[in-house]
Amino acid sequence: MKSVLVTGGAGFIGSHTCLLLLEQGYNIFVIDSFINSSSRSIKKVLLILKEMGIDAQRKIHLTNGDIKNPSDIEHIFKMSYKLDKKIEAVIHFAGLKSVSDSIIDPISYWENNVVGTINLCKVMEKYNCKNIVFSSSATVYKTESNKLLNEENICEPVNPYGYTKLTIERILKNLHSSKSSNWRIASLRYFNPVGAHHSGFIGEDPLGKANNIYPQITRVAIGKQSRLKIFGSDWPTSDGTGVRDYIHVMDLAEGHLSALNYLIKKKPQFIAINLGTGKGTTVLEFIKIFEKVNKVKVPFSFEDRRPGDNASVIADNSLAKSLLNWHPKRNIEDICKDGWNWQVNNPKGYLN
Ligand code: NAD
Ligand code: UD1
Repeated sequence: MKSVLVTGGAGFIGSHTCLLLLEQGYNIFVIDSFINSSSRSIKKVLLILKEMGIDAQRKIHLTNGDIKNPSDIEHIFKMSYKLDKKIEAVIHFAGLKSVSDSIIDPISYWENNVVGTINLCKVMEKYNCKNIVFSSSATVYKTESNKLLNEENICEPVNPYGYTKLTIERILKNLHSSKSSNWRIASLRYFNPVGAHHSGFIGEDPLGKANNIYPQITRVAIGKQSRLKIFGSDWPTSDGTGVRDYIHVMDLAEGHLSALNYLIKKKPQFIAINLGTGKGTTVLEFIKIFEKVNKVKVPFSFEDRRPGDNASVIADNSLAKSLLNWHPKRNIEDICKDGWNWQVNNPKGYLN
């Protein structure tokens, strides 16, 4: 396989994955509406590759387009045919991802995530491209106990964002089961993606307000916010704060390449796979490690529990290990070091 379409490729996880795809010699077509990103991330990807002695300029075709418009997607497939770089697979990151915004404006989430994916699948069918790796989320699971979550766990999202992800999984599963289908589909359920590429050139740069913990920690550490509000100190965990499975974004990016390699070698199928480390970290542990690794202070205060939160969300990642031969290589210290390197080098994100 030589040519891949990456939807949402300028975003946080997409840009890190584009870097690996280009490094491995793929031709990539990127469609991004830049609703939550900047084309500068792709420029930085090319800079990293240049420093590695790889000139990837002609290997990437970036289009400002929206998957809500089928014609924008079709334009790219046509272009790939014209350039004799026929798209053979899609890595589908494009989507809106804020849980709180999805509660305020559910229609935008259904339209962007679900309708956008339907548009994509229709164009893929038309061009007989039936290999897709989809960005799902641990949000699809019902999480009540502290047990590791495996792919057989009950799926019962608690917010519109999670429902859009589960709905897309169901659509993809139906596509696979449809008559004479030869779709190969991997739905990757990410746990908590954080960190940045070790170069400090690319990282997470959420536009607007970030609700997740990692950008909050780095913002407090750099002095943009006075303290981190810890949501709850009375959870049934080792120190009373919430436990999550934080996964380095480069490990996650590697998981996509492994999934792609797996799919093309195997028979048509739909498979959902967790991408997490299998290790949990409490909020207090995360802060302590961040402070130690980076020699900075992260002042905090305890607040009430956040509505909709769980005590503990940790992946059982044995399926990814056995099927994809994928293993997370980076630990929580690497996450703290690399994410901070990105923040310090780019205090204004991609606006620098
Ligand atoms: P991101 O917002 O940085 O990247 C998504 C990209 O998609 C952005 O560049 C955005 O501009 C683009 N996009 C959004 N809607 C689009 C549309 N209609 N047409 C074209 N482009 C569009 O987010 P991310 O963290 O890189 O997440 C990537 C995917 O992974 C998303 O689907 C997200 O729901 C999923 N996911 C993320 C996390 C996380 O914590 N980061 C966790 C689980 C799942
Ligand atoms: C959140 C989303 C989830 C989404 C995931 C990745 C909710 C309820 N869940 O999960 O659907 O898939 O992000 O995008 O929004 N915390 C603080 N202070 C903060 C922020 C977070 O103490 O300012 C704590 C939380 O209570 C939690 C941990 O840090 O224990 C991680 O929170 P967060 O980064 O928001 O991720 P999730 O809650 O796992």
